[in-house]
Amino acid sequence: MTIQKKTAIGRAHSKIILIGEHSVVYGKPAIALPFPTLEVRSHVVEISGSIVLDCHYFTGYLEEAPNMLKGMAVCIAATLKHLQQPAEGLHIQIESSVPIGRGLGSSASSAIAVVRSLYRYFEQELSKVKLLEFVHMAETFAHGNPSGIDAAAAASDVPIWFEQGEGFPIKIGRPLHLVVADTGRMGETVEAVESIRKRRLASPFGVQQSLDLLGDFTIQTKEALAEGDFLLVGKMMDAAQRELRKLGVSDAGLDQLIHIAKNSGALGAKLTGGGKGGCIIALASSLEQAKVLAEELQRNGATQTWSYIVE
Ligand code: PMV
Repeated sequence: MTIQKKTAIGRAHSKIILIGEHSVVYGKPAIALPFPTLEVRSHVVEISGSIVLDCHYFTGYLEEAPNMLKGMAVCIAATLKHLQQPAEGLHIQIESSVPIGRGLGSSASSAIAVVRSLYRYFEQELSKVKLLEFVHMAETFAHGNPSGIDAAAAASDVPIWFEQGEGFPIKIGRPLHLVVADTGRMGETVEAVESIRKRRLASPFGVQQSLDLLGDFTIQTKEALAEGDFLLVGKMMDAAQRELRKLGVSDAGLDQLIHIAKNSGALGAKLTGGGKGGCIIALASSLEQAKVLAEELQRNGATQTWSYIVE
């Protein structure tokens, strides 16, 4: 007779920042969307002995995990401590379709999936507040000083307005057709955030002006989304991209894909997430146009594209 091992699964989807990345670090609002096409699954199985982590980067004992997984290790330890469970006897397998380092929230989604799987495994109710607290620990290692937007968006099933560390659901007047295109290069969120910090010290006025404008564009985008005025949403995306470029977080590869998207009729296009590599998002006027944009982007250098509808 085989003895059934105790097991549990936790899932989390990825996220997209529609507008307000970087300025959100300086207290401005941002809008983020759940991106359910890509997700992370954490599978916990009972074993004997030390905790084993099995993921893309590493398979082995959690205590021997490389530096890049330190955040995850701290997050797991804190979750188990809070659950009053010993840090042993678990095999944690993380499977993810979220490309790493592309501004799609891979680290936040992984941490969310793991915390959810541990709570399921120990049959405990998990509040949103507690979830975000544990995920913040993992994100602090991955991002330095994260605004919290990645975790809030990856933990939300609806579009959110994110401001001062908190996410609030927002309305979208009619379905929004987005195309996400990957440059195929890892973004450099920590470096990008740091480069803006340094620029701000060197030229406070110019940088503050860009941050203020990004905040204004985000407010206008929220209203335009509610009214279903996607021409205005597109204009705001383009305007945000101009400021992000001025702030130095775009690059030639992102600019090239944005140029292709705009030339193929996108209502707006910009980088998403930290920048300096990673992905762009383009707003299409219809499902058919989203298909055209995805094809053009792939033909002109995007390594992957995903079309999706936000409702
Ligand atoms: O993790 P990314 O690359 O999606 O970037 C997060 C958004 C930033 O505003 C650039 C950083 C932050 O912590 O808010």
